Amino acid sequence: MNDAFVEVVTESDLARRISQLGAELTEDYRGREPVMLGVLMGCLPFLADLVRATDLELEVDVLSLTRFGHDGRVSIMLDAAVPLAGRDVIIVEDIVDTGLTLTALRRALELRDVTSLATVALLDKAPRRIVDVPLEYRGFEVGDEFLLGYGLDWEGKFRNLRSLWAVMDLAALTQDPAAFAELVFGAPITR
Ligand code: IMP
Repeated sequence: MNDAFVEVVTESDLARRISQLGAELTEDYRGREPVMLGVLMGCLPFLADLVRATDLELEVDVLSLTRFGHDGRVSIMLDAAVPLAGRDVIIVEDIVDTGLTLTALRRALELRDVTSLATVALLDKAPRRIVDVPLEYRGFEVGDEFLLGYGLDWEGKFRNLRSLWAVMDLAALTQDPAAFAELVFGAPITR
């Protein structure tokens, strides 16, 4: 067993927690028609599972952000297609880390006269928070390890893992990503 990588949330734990989150949203938004707004790319598996766990008439949309530097400046690179004014908007995030991205996104969306704004994040890296940002729904609180899978990537890869892995030794991943690929996909990658 390679102890540089640890599976921290299994596929069945993800499914169980997401179905609870969907039930909470169903209860809290009953009688309304929210827009579930995913933040690309990391939200994709979570968004797909969460909307199917939510028994409401709702709309699904996505946007994509570009980050500048390390001070939390973001701009919207690809905007939502649904007009958000007058809507109950639920931001769907993979992970909230420092909170800078979510703070900037909430500010941008608040300028659009939304009726309400809430965030559901699958993962809350609470110990790393720099800015205090509202997080109305969260799947799991996690530590400060680098996480991979179920939407989260390393250099664009491993988003397709069905469970979540913690990288205990980032240097090991950087030096030999094929070893991790072999561990999680079972066969060496040959090019
Ligand atoms: P924040 O602005 O620091 O809260 O960063 C949030 C973004 O950083 C997330 O949407 C992810 O794209 C990325 N991120 C933060 N932690 C991780 C991680 O452990 N693995 C992969 N991406 C991460």
